[in-house]
Formats: sequence, C-alpha cells, structure tokens
Amino acid sequence: MCGIFGCIVGDGRAAPILVRGLKMLEYRGYDSAGIATIDGGKILVKKDVGKIDEIEERLLMSELPGKIGIAHTRWATHGAPNAVNAHPHLDMHSRIAVVHNGIIENYLELKRELMELRYNFVSKTDTEVVAHLISHSFSKHGDLLAATVEALRRVRGSYSLAIISTASPDRIILARRESPLIVGLGDGAVFAASDVSAFLERTNRVVYLEDGEVGVLTLNGLTIYKLDNMEGVSRKPVTLNWSIEAAHKAGFPHFTLKEIYDQPLTVREALRIQEQYADLIVEFLDRGREVFLLGAGTSYHACLAASYMFSKLARLVTYPVVASEFVENFGNAVGIDTVILAVSQSGETIDTLNALEYARLRAATVLGLTNVVGSTLTRISRAYILQNTGPEIGVAATKTFTAQLTVLAQLALRLARKRGKVSQSEIDRFKDDLHNLPQLVSETIKSVEPEVKSLSDVLSQAKVLVFLGRGLGYVTSLEARLKVMELSYIPSIALPAGESKHGPISIVEEDRNVVFTIPRDETRKLAINNVMEMKARGAKVTIVGEDGDSEVAELADHFVGVPKVNYLLSPIVYVIPYQLLAYYLALRRGLDPDKPRNLAKSVTVL
Ligand code: G6P
Repeated sequence: MCGIFGCIVGDGRAAPILVRGLKMLEYRGYDSAGIATIDGGKILVKKDVGKIDEIEERLLMSELPGKIGIAHTRWATHGAPNAVNAHPHLDMHSRIAVVHNGIIENYLELKRELMELRYNFVSKTDTEVVAHLISHSFSKHGDLLAATVEALRRVRGSYSLAIISTASPDRIILARRESPLIVGLGDGAVFAASDVSAFLERTNRVVYLEDGEVGVLTLNGLTIYKLDNMEGVSRKPVTLNWSIEAAHKAGFPHFTLKEIYDQPLTVREALRIQEQYADLIVEFLDRGREVFLLGAGTSYHACLAASYMFSKLARLVTYPVVASEFVENFGNAVGIDTVILAVSQSGETIDTLNALEYARLRAATVLGLTNVVGSTLTRISRAYILQNTGPEIGVAATKTFTAQLTVLAQLALRLARKRGKVSQSEIDRFKDDLHNLPQLVSETIKSVEPEVKSLSDVLSQAKVLVFLGRGLGYVTSLEARLKVMELSYIPSIALPAGESKHGPISIVEEDRNVVFTIPRDETRKLAINNVMEMKARGAKVTIVGEDGDSEVAELADHFVGVPKVNYLLSPIVYVIPYQLLAYYLALRRGLDPDKPRNLAKSVTVL
C-alpha cells in the first residue's frame, strides 16, 4: 500500500507541495520515496531509500523547479527497497514518468514482451512495465491519454496511477482500479492522491475516481472517462469536513475499524502472490524431512491454520510452533533436512528471528511469509513470499491475519497440486473459492456488524469469556480470544471444544458466557454436543455459525451468522465478527482500540 500524489500549481512550484504531501502520506508506506517534476521540457527526478525527512535532507527534493509533478512513498512489493526501485519510474526516453500504488499481476509476461522489443529495464518493480508500455503506445499515437488507455487495457491487477509527460506538460493522467485515488480541486492548484490527507491543508473539494476510470487533470479541472469504452463520466465534487487525522483513517473513527473494513481489498491483494516465489517455497516445503511453521501471536494462529490446510489439502504433516518455544522444544532435532516456514507480519519479531538464527546455524532451510520487504526475515530467508497488505497501524493484527491465511491457503493448494493429492475438479473448486473470498469478506463485514454491536452490549460486563471450537473453528477461537482480550482486557480462554471437559468446564456456571465457532463441517456434530454440555451447566451460549444453520442457531442465546465458505478458508470469514466484537467491546469499556495498553505492534525484545 504505497501512497501516490500529484499536483499542478498556477503560480509557484509543485515540489514543496509534493514533499509536504508525501509527509502526510508517509503512514501508508515508508521504505523509499521520490518526486518528479517537469521544467524546461525535461522530467527531473529525485528519489531514494529512507524516510521522507532524511531523503529531503540529502537530496533537497523540494527545490526541484516546475509547476507540475508527481510523488510517491513506497511500501515495497516487487523489488527491494532501494533508490532504483523507488518511484517515479521513467520510460527509456525520459519523457514519461509514472507513480503507482497496487500490483500489476501480469508484469512478468509484459516485461518479457517489452524486453524482446528492446525496452531496457532498470528496476525490479512491476511499475516500470507501465512506463514502458505507455511509452510504446505513445510512439504510435503521440497522445498521452490514448497511449495510457491502450497500455492499461493490457494490464491485469490493481493500480492507482499518476502519469506526467514532457509531451503534455500541463496535465496529469490518472487511472484507478481497486486502489484508491482522489482528486482535490483548489484555488489555482489541483491535486490527486491516494488519500485526501496529502492535500487536505489546501482544499477539501474532492472528486473520487471509481474503478475502471481514467482522468485528465489540468488547472481547469478533471475530465473522467471509462477505461473500457472512453465514455465520458460526469461527477460533481464533494466537500469533506475532515481533520487530517480523520483523513488518515479514511473517515473511520479508528484505524482498527478502518483496517477491518480494508479486508476485501487486502485479501484480494494477498491473492496476487508472486507465483515464482510461491513455487519455490512449495518446492522446499515438499522436500523437508520435517516442516515447522513458526510464528508469534496472531502469526502463530496463522501457522496453526496452515497446518490444518497443508494436511487436509496436500497431506503434508507440519508442526506449528510458538516461536519462543521452538529452540527449547525442537532445537536438538533441527538439521540440514529441516524446513521452517516463518510467518511474521513485521518480519522483525525477535522471538521468531532468534529461533530462525538458531536453525540457520544448523543448516536448516528458512522460508518466510511477511508483509515487509527488506525486513530481517526477508534477508535471512532462503525464499520468502509477501502478503501485500500495506502498513497496519492498529496494534491488534486484523487485516494482516486474513492476508496471511489467504497466502497460506494458496501455498496449500500449490503443494497439493505438486504432490498430486487433489483432483483437477477439487483444484478448480478451491481456486473459485479463493477467487470469491474478497466478496465473501465484504458481505460478512456488512452483514454481521449490527448483530455484533448488540452482542458487545451483552458481553461487555463479562468477568471472563470462554471461546471454544473444533478443527479450524478452534483456530478461529484462539484468534477470537486474542483479539477480544487484547482490545477489551476481559480475561479470556480458548480451547479445542473437545478439551473443555478435561478441566476448564469446572469454571462454567450459571450465566457464564461461552462463545462457540461452528462452521458447517465434519466437526459440527461433535461441537453441538459440546454446546449441550455447556447449556446443561447454565452457560449463556453465543455461536458464530453459518447463515441458515437453524439447528445450531436454535441452540444459541445469541447467534451470529456468516456466509457459507469453504471449510479450509473458514477462519478468514469467521474471524471477522470477532475482530468487530473486540473493537466494539473496547469502545463499550471506554478503551482505545488502536492502542491497547502494554502491547506493541512489533516486539523486538525477548
Ligand atoms: C506482537 C503484536 C501481535 C503480533 C505479534 C507477532 O505481539 O502485537 O499483533 O501478532 O507481535 O508479530 P509479527 O510481526 O511477527 O507477525
């Protein structure tokens, strides 16, 4: 999730405004940044790795001349964070400059094609493909808009783009598909950015570009077309009365809620994994004598879910382990045939890195799944894969969890295919189910929120909460417990439902709140027995189950229904009511859901 920004000013220079805008967007991603302006018929670029202030101090980006420019702050997805991979990217003639937020899915195919046409690539990014592709069309048309449209019709994936060219130095061409892009119309200046915070100090009159639209921005305003057929679109500006803080949160009251709502998009981005790296990881996983899945906190829960997916779909037994316990429990058994897949959103959790360092010294193969290119995990892994989630600001992991699961499910599918463990029809069905996930996630968020809000009223005074489930319902229960406990501070336990009778049932008494996760799967029948055990002891039972599962719903004092989903993907959907529950419980109890006490986003002490 990078941040893009562009502006045209009537009087004065664009560069200082661009640098200020980048500062306001820095929270969206921050491994490198750059700006490009046009002056004297030339594109001028300054870009580097590091924080905006450091780059500005080193390169004085704000001193570039020119009334028009584009800028970018990067959260790397393709190519390491360094000066060459930083945006803007230029075509070979330095007449077109591009900034991009999103992922070009078919960039390798397009890159190969362009290389055959003798286009030279200097970076490892997917974005550079767009610059060359537009340049290629521009050589035929001589028109920047027509060239952009022709190029984008070949591009698959997500993007918000701002493009400038020496050929039309009075305009910024904009395009949007799935990634946000908003235009600001000021007095004597116009802007376009990933979010309004980039220009809110200068104007609050905005026009939102929609998916599949391209725009031409000049000092006279914005003209919008549909990319498909170049039909004109008319849209009136709206006036936003937002503070900068509200703008950062896209109008949501907290980052945590915004990030829960981001999930349809972040799950979609997680479906855009880089195939060659996924195949490499699968190759290593398949070769291991034993495979450990390592993580801490929420990432450990992702590992646990993956162990169910790998065994059920690919018949591969793996060992999910809490990172801080790994050396003590398994250290002596680690050797050259050991494969470890470490899952860490930040790629910096010291418990995870310590375990990996130990394993590396014993020649084990270390693989990584992370959200941060350039993190320690990416540097020490033999191969790594990215989840493409962009920065998560709420301390409690929400969108990074569902994205991790989405990537792990794809690895499970590839592994199953490689090991010849599933039929073509099963593969096709699972692919369809993966493809439908963003839609399901979106439906779930909308449908469960009112129910969950009223549930939070009921549960907010609970002294203790018990979360139970079986199979992947148990994994969801663990994550539910963690979210609720982190954000509401209500002491909570989570167990496999089958374990409850081996001890924890002793704390169940009249009106004790017990929360079950019951997807409609093979474990459902036994889970119903466990519900009956709890009810017999007077517990108040809440069940998160499948919409329309009336047998289960009738047992519950409170029932939250979610849409039908493939069992192996169920935690991605079933966790959503719990994320919202944790959020609303925090609000009911007067707590700040974004900053739970004593917790840190990334824990770098042992
Ligand atoms: C901290 C965070 C958790 C996170 C855990 C692991 O405890 O508060 O939300 O799940 O670290 O972080 P990682 O970056 O390794 O996924």
